[in-house]
Amino acid sequence: MKFISCIFTANILEMSKNAIIFGATSGIGKELAKILVANDYQVLITGRRLEKLKEIKATNPSSYSIKQHDITNIKSSNLFFDELPSIFDKVDLIILSSGVGDANYKLDWEVDLPTLNTNVMGTTKLMQLAYSYFNKQGYGHLVGITSIASIRGNRHVPAYFASKAFQSSYLESLWMKAQRSKKDIFVTNILPGYVDTVMAKGSTFWKAPLDKACKQIFRAIQKKKKKAYITRRWRLVAIFLKIVPASVVNKYF
Ligand SMILES: NC(=O)c1ccc[n+]([C@@H]2O[C@H](COP(=O)([O-])OP(=O)(O)OC[C@H]3O[C@@H](n4cnc5c(N)ncnc54)[C@H](OP(=O)(O)O)[C@@H]3O)[C@@H](O)[C@H]2O)c1
Repeated sequence: MKFISCIFTANILEMSKNAIIFGATSGIGKELAKILVANDYQVLITGRRLEKLKEIKATNPSSYSIKQHDITNIKSSNLFFDELPSIFDKVDLIILSSGVGDANYKLDWEVDLPTLNTNVMGTTKLMQLAYSYFNKQGYGHLVGITSIASIRGNRHVPAYFASKAFQSSYLESLWMKAQRSKKDIFVTNILPGYVDTVMAKGSTFWKAPLDKACKQIFRAIQKKKKKAYITRRWRLVAIFLKIVPASVVNKYF
């Protein structure tokens, strides 16, 4: 009987999946963490706000691990991955959801700096660390939450749009690398339109409810898609943005 129960426990451990979400204290990252836990993942959630992490862990202490982490601190990102074996013996999925972005009408350097440090410097470091981790492990799935903003420029929020274009291109490079490797490494670029979080300030068109958007993101992750527009109707906007001249984009956005 003891033998059977050992096999059963071993099988459960083998079947259980581990995920890390960077930027899970609110919005898309937090909702995705909830969905992963509901789908039997063990999830390590991160972000700068420790109180938020503790609140989330309290909802399901056995499924969440927490680690306070500021992705703009490059040394601390190295340390994060060095210390990872003390939390997980393997990682199946890493989602990068940390992001910031503010309008910058006067091209003030101080306004753009957090966006560049977070979305470009901090995120690139994590993309490198995550890919290298999976490469060493021999398998894994990296998911970046970029944006429909990655497709064209924008005169109001130039650094945010450019940072998302950078992330999108970097993820495609990693996807190419993964394709050439003989390993089971997958890379997914998630491009949301407007999703109802604190980031999508004000009234905007086609703002998707958070749960609907995250269910679609999870389906794209399950299908190991290369790219997914969230919600799906934003694919139409993407097609429009890709074909029209900049003068038209400038008129309507
Ligand atoms: N909502 C939308 O309409 C929309 C559309 C397209 C793309 N996106 C993208 O979706 C992602 C998630 O955004 P959201 O809408 O869910 O907004 P959100 O609720 O503001 O979430 C942003 C997350 O990023 C984390 N974060 C920010 N700076 C960080 C740092 N330096 N270190 C670690 N974590 C940091 C925040 O955690 P802490 O503050 O606790 O650090 C928070 O958990 C972002 O990359 C955003 O660009 C959102």
